[in-house]
Amino acid sequence: MSPELQRQLLQELLGLEARKALYLDDAPSRSPVQHYLDPERFAREQQRVFGALPAMLAHSSELAAPNSFLRRTVQGQPLLLLRGDDGVARVFYNVCRHRGTRLVEAQAGCKARHVCPYHAWSWNSRGEFVAAPHFEAGFPDARPEELGLAALRCEERHGFVWLLPESFAGALADFLGPLDAELAWVGTSGLAVHAADTQLRRCNWKMIAEGGLEAYHFRVAHRNTIAKLFHDNLSSYQVLGPHMRSILPRTSMAQLREQAPEHWALRAHANVLYSLFPGSVLLVQHDHVVWIQVEPLAVDSTLLRLVTLKPADSTAPTGYWDKNHALTLTTLNEDFDLAESIQSGLHTGANTALRFGRFEGALQRFNETVQRQLDGAPQAAGAAAG
Ligand code: FES
Ligand SMILES: [Fe+2]
Repeated sequence: MSPELQRQLLQELLGLEARKALYLDDAPSRSPVQHYLDPERFAREQQRVFGALPAMLAHSSELAAPNSFLRRTVQGQPLLLLRGDDGVARVFYNVCRHRGTRLVEAQAGCKARHVCPYHAWSWNSRGEFVAAPHFEAGFPDARPEELGLAALRCEERHGFVWLLPESFAGALADFLGPLDAELAWVGTSGLAVHAADTQLRRCNWKMIAEGGLEAYHFRVAHRNTIAKLFHDNLSSYQVLGPHMRSILPRTSMAQLREQAPEHWALRAHANVLYSLFPGSVLLVQHDHVVWIQVEPLAVDSTLLRLVTLKPADSTAPTGYWDKNHALTLTTLNEDFDLAESIQSGLHTGANTALRFGRFEGALQRFNETVQRQLDGAPQAAGAAAG
């Protein structure tokens, strides 16, 4: 991010703070509760939103060495990520080409050969078929070069392995738009996974996304964790195509008034939250990044993966990052408990719609993006929109 943009974003928030003002949309808005309850709408979201747009599958550091592998499940599909002996990351279905057994059982590891547990057909780390017992006698018509593992389109970019659905015609860089340069600025390719946790939450996936898009709740919901580090209800957001950037200034921002603006660094005094539509959030803090991955399972059930990414060359003791990861989990669990709390009362009819205040405008922008994608708007592209 250019120093000018960093200054601009900080200046805007310093101005609001000085005037005791808030970052406001023109009008409040409402979000129908049916959007979080309707299984039919959920099925369309799965197909038109998650099934149609690129998604981060893994951080490259989880698949670092040649011949390393990882399992993932996306939209119920068993996937196998392989880093070939040529260093290239590829994504395949974790399905044997003989009679369809799950080829790899281990969640992760390092292997030059993958041998099916049923009849021992085998593949190399590039997904190419290697051999099968009694192959010529049993399968005289089969051509080994056609028996490679079934591959999916993927790309490794900014230190993440991305899955690109068949129906997604565009380039990943265009989909990221301005975020392509900002991920380079964050330096996500120079990070390494320190710790990762998964948890199942009884709420709609959008509830999780919305919980990260406002600072209105900080003083209340996070009173025992991070509230004192942040200003009350002060944040800004910018829409970047389907994605969003939110700026969450820390109370230390006031120190900038004593510094020459040309020395201002955004990450020193604010968290930057990138909502990578639809399913990933990167919370960029001053010395590390938290990656929240959202995998919708049902209209009221969402699998989350919470990852602490530290600089790959960090010399800080393990305990320092353990503490960071633990604080992240405690704080995010405060959010996720509330998301479940909301979901549990949606069907009562007490509200027909949820209310978003003028300082919760990012939630409405997010829901508009979901709606556009459902309505089949031209494929999301990352052009800046203010
Ligand atoms: S099903 Fe995999 S080798 Fe037979
Ligand atoms: Fe929160």
